[in-house]
Amino acid sequence: MKSALALALERLGEEPYASVICYPRSSKTELKKRLVELQRLGVEAIEFSGEKRAFNVPILGKGCVGIVVIAYLNSKKIALKIRRVDADRSRMQQEAKMLKKANSVSIGPKFLGVSENFLLMEFVDGDLLPLWLEKRREEAVIRKVFRELLQQSWCLDKIGLDHGELSHAPKHIIIDLESRPFLVDFETASVNRRASNVTSICHFLFVGGMVAKMLTERLSEIDKNTLIEALRLHKAERSRESFERILRLCVL
Ligand SMILES: Nc1ncnc2c1ncn2[C@@H]1O[C@H](COP(=O)(O)OP(=O)(O)OP(=O)(O)O)[C@@H](O)[C@H]1O
Ligand SMILES: [Mg+2]
Repeated sequence: MKSALALALERLGEEPYASVICYPRSSKTELKKRLVELQRLGVEAIEFSGEKRAFNVPILGKGCVGIVVIAYLNSKKIALKIRRVDADRSRMQQEAKMLKKANSVSIGPKFLGVSENFLLMEFVDGDLLPLWLEKRREEAVIRKVFRELLQQSWCLDKIGLDHGELSHAPKHIIIDLESRPFLVDFETASVNRRASNVTSICHFLFVGGMVAKMLTERLSEIDKNTLIEALRLHKAERSRESFERILRLCVL
C-alpha cells in the first residue's frame, strides 16, 4: 500500500525532488536518464520520509555514495539507494554483487534490483544501532542482538566477504521492529582481502568503538584484556572454537 507521501515518477522532475534524485546537482540529461532507469527497474513511486534530510526533503539516509529513500516496487515498500552524482564510483553493480553474496548466507537486506545509478533492496524498518540502544534497557534483548551480530560476522568471515566498515559502524547496523539486526551498505565490501568482520565488530561493540563507549557501565563485566587476547587468538586461528570463546566472553 502506497502512503500519502508517495510521489509517482512523473512528479520527480519537479524541484526539490529532481535534486534529490540527482543529488547534489540535477541536470536535465541526468534526470531524464535516471527516470528511464527507474521505470525500467519497475519502480512505481518514491516516498520522501525518514529522519534525515536532503534539500529539506525527508529521506532514510545520506552518505558519501548514496541517498537512500523509500520506494515502491509491485506496490511493496522497498529501500532505494541512489548513486550521488558526485560519488567516487561510477556504478552500483559492484555493491549489488557484494550484497547478493551476503544474501547467499541470509545476511543484509534482500537484493531486489540494480542499474547504473540505483540499487533496490529490502526496506529495513527500524533504528540504527546507537539509537536503538539508547531506547533499550532489557539486557536479554541486547545480548540476543549482539549474539546475532557476531554470528552474522562469523558467517561473512566464513564466505570470505569482508564488510569493511564494521569497526566503526554507527550507520551500518539497523535493528528492525522485531529486534532483528541487519548489516547494511556492502559498498566497500570485498572478497579480495582477509575477512575480519568478527574482530572489527567486536572492537566496535565491546572494546573501544562507539557502542563500547556508550555501554561502558553495562559492559563492565567484560574483561577487555581477556577479550583482546581472545580476538588476537581468533585472528590467527579463525576456528569455531576461538570464535565461541569470544561469544562466551562477550555476550553469554
Ligand atoms: N535497506 C535499508 N533499509 C532502511 N534504511 C537503509 C537501508 N539501507 C540504508 N539505509 C539507511 O541509509 C543510510 C545510508 O546508507 P548507506 O550506508 O548504504 O549509504 P552510503 O552512501 O554508502 O553511506 P556512507 O557514506 O556512510 O557509507 C544508512 O545509514 C541507513 O540509515
Ligand atoms: Mg557506504
